[in-house]
Amino acid sequence: SAKKIAVIIGSLRKDSLNRKFAHAVMELAPASLALDIVEIGELPIYNEDLDAKDATPPQAWTQFRDRLKEYEGVLFFTPEYNRSTTAALKNALDVGSRPYGSSVWSGKPAGIVSVSPGATGGFGANHHLRQSLVFLDMPTLLQPEAYIGGAAKLLGDDGKLNNDSTKEFLKKFIDTYAAWVETNGKKK
Ligand code: FNR
Repeated sequence: SAKKIAVIIGSLRKDSLNRKFAHAVMELAPASLALDIVEIGELPIYNEDLDAKDATPPQAWTQFRDRLKEYEGVLFFTPEYNRSTTAALKNALDVGSRPYGSSVWSGKPAGIVSVSPGATGGFGANHHLRQSLVFLDMPTLLQPEAYIGGAAKLLGDDGKLNNDSTKEFLKKFIDTYAAWVETNGKKK
C-alpha cells in the first residue's frame, strides 16, 4: 500500500511560493506515496511548562502530535528567513519532538525542498533544517538536493510550473524520495 507522507510547509502566507511548489510536487508524486499537507500555523509557540506533569498541553499540540503519528515520512518545504528556516517550521519541529521520549519524528524518512525568489534557493534554510533533522533521527534524502531559486519566475499566473526542466527535476526528486522512503522507512 502507499506510504503515508506528511507534507509540511514552512510559510504561513496564503500566496506562498513554497505552498505552490508543494502542490506541484504532490501532483508529480508516484502512486507509492500518499501525500497530505499537515498545517502548522495554529500551533502555539513551544513552552516546556505546558508539557509539565501537572499541565494540560494546548489542544493544537496534541492534535498535531496525534496526526503526525499516522505518517511514515515527512516532506518539508521551507522558505528562507534570514538564512535559516522559519520560526513556524522550527516551532512545529519542537512541538512534535516532545514530551521527551515520544517524538513524532523519530526514524521517519524526510525530504527537504527549499524555495526562494532569491538566487541562492534557500540553501541556508535547507541546511539549518537538515541540522535539526539529524538530531531528530530522521534519515534525510541527500541527493538530489532541491534548492529552488528564482522561484517566482518558475510559476505561471495559474500558480503552476511553467517549464519542463523544473518539472523534470522535481519529478526526479520525488521519485528518488519515494525510493528513499522504501529503503529507509521504519521496520514494522
Ligand atoms: C525573507 N526572504 C529571504 N529570502 C532569501 O532568499 N533569504 C533570506 O535570508 C530571506 N530572509 C527573509 C526574512 C524574512 C523575515 C522574510 C519575511 C523574507 C524572502 C523570502 O524568500 C520570500 O518572502 C519568500 O517568498 C518566502 O516564501 P513563501 O512565503 O513565498 O513560501
